[in-house]
Amino acid sequence: MRASNEQVISESARILGYIESAELSTEEQDRIVADSLENFPLYVTEAILKSRKSYSDDVSVAEWSDEAAVLRDIHGQEYIDCLGGYGVYLLGHRHPRVVQAVRRQLDRQALHSQELIDPLRGYLSKLVAMITPGDLRHSYLVSSGTEANEMALKLARLATGKKGFIATEKGFHGKTMGSLSATGKGLFRQPYLPLVPGFQHVPYGDAAAVEEAIRELVLTGETVAGVIVEPIQGEGGVNIPPATYLPDLRKICDRYECLLIVDEVQTGMGRTGKLFGVDHVGVTPDIMTLGKAFGGGVAPIAAMVAQPKWWSKMEDNPFILGSSTFGGNPMVASAAIAAINVIISEDVPGIAAEKGAYFLRGLQNIQSRYPDLMREARGLGLLMGMEFVNHETGYQVARGLFERKVLVGGTLNNAQVIRIEPPYSISYPQIDYVLQALDETLAVPS
Ligand SMILES: Cc1ncc(COP(=O)(O)O)c(C=O)c1O
Repeated sequence: MRASNEQVISESARILGYIESAELSTEEQDRIVADSLENFPLYVTEAILKSRKSYSDDVSVAEWSDEAAVLRDIHGQEYIDCLGGYGVYLLGHRHPRVVQAVRRQLDRQALHSQELIDPLRGYLSKLVAMITPGDLRHSYLVSSGTEANEMALKLARLATGKKGFIATEKGFHGKTMGSLSATGKGLFRQPYLPLVPGFQHVPYGDAAAVEEAIRELVLTGETVAGVIVEPIQGEGGVNIPPATYLPDLRKICDRYECLLIVDEVQTGMGRTGKLFGVDHVGVTPDIMTLGKAFGGGVAPIAAMVAQPKWWSKMEDNPFILGSSTFGGNPMVASAAIAAINVIISEDVPGIAAEKGAYFLRGLQNIQSRYPDLMREARGLGLLMGMEFVNHETGYQVARGLFERKVLVGGTLNNAQVIRIEPPYSISYPQIDYVLQALDETLAVPS
C-alpha cells in the first residue's frame, strides 16, 4: 500500500541520517541490523539472507565500511576480505587514488549529457588500447560483465555474418539471456530454458573438443561466429587449462574464421599475476571483455574491447553497435582511469604474482596435512581455489573461516571449491593469519 508523502520523507530522512553520520550510536547500529533483517524478507528476498554466512538465528552481521583488505561490520568488527567481491577488489577497498579521482569528478560532473562529447570515455578507451595486447583497440563501455559479454557475442555475429557459438562446460559469462546462454552451468540456465539458440558447450581446457564441435556444425550446414572462454574458469571452480589451450584456440578460430572471445571479467587487470590472463601464453583475442576490478573496486564499469578489423564492419552504425545509458559515464570512467594508473605504476600484477605464490604455498602445505578433507589447492596470482572432498566440507570450512573473521568465496550451493581472491594490498601478516585460521578450522573435527 502506498505510504503518505510525510511517511516517505521521514523514513528517507532517517536513512540519510545514517548515511551521512560520521559515527553511529550503539542503538542506531542495532537498529540498522534489525531493519535489514526485516527489510530483506519483506522487500528484497529472504533467500539472500539465508544464503549468507553472515546471517544466523543468534547474531547477524551487516557491513558498513571498508578499507584496503578489510571489511568492517556495523559494530566495527573487522574481517579480512579473501572473497574480494569475486574479483572486484583487486585494488582493495576504496583505494585512495581511485577514491580521490572519483571525488574530484563528482564535484564537477557525475553522469554525461548523452549529447555533448564526453572526454573521459575517449581517454579511458585510449588507455585500454594502450594496455591490452595486440591490436585490441575499440572499447564499448557498460556497467557489468554480462553486458560486456552480450555485446561481444553480438559483435561476433555482426562482424562475421555467422551465427553459432562454442562455449565451455562450467564457464561463467553472466546472467542476462545471451551471456547465460554461453554460461555452462545447469543450475543457472535450467529455470530460463529455452535460451538463445546456437550455443554448444564442450569440456573446458580441451581445444580438440572445440575444433570437433566446430567441424561438426560446419559439416551439417551451421556457421560458427565465435568461441567464448575464460583464461581460467573462476566461478566454475578455479580451473586452469593447459598452457597450449588458448594458443590452440587462437589457431582453430583463425582456421575456421570465427572470433576468439576471451572473457577477462574476473582474470583481467592483474589478478592472475599478469595484466591479463592471455598474457601468460601470449595470445591476442579478437574480442576481450573486462569488468569487476576494471573499476578499481570503487565503480561499476565493464568493457568490451575489439580489434578494429571486426569493429569497423559496423562502425557507421552506433545504434546497432549498442548504446547504454550509464555505460562509461564520467564518474565510473574516472575510477577506471585511476585504476589503470595504480595497476601499472604500482606493478599490481607483479605484486599479485608474488603474494599469490606465497599464499598458494601456504595453502598447499595445509592441503598436504589434511588430504582427507582438501583435495587440492591451486591458483595463479591472487586467484586461488581450495577443492574439498565435497560441498558440505567446503561450506563448513567457509563457515569456520567466517567465525575467525575471514571472508572466502564459498556459498551454500557451490562450496566444493572455495575461492580465495584477496586484494593486492593484503599484507603478509594478514595472509599468515588466514593460513593459521584455515589450519585451525580444518583441525576441528566437524
Ligand atoms: C568470468 C566472468 N564473466 C562475466 C561475469 C558477469 O559479470 P557481472 O556479474 O558484472 O555481470 C562474471 C561474474 O562473476 C565472471 O566471473
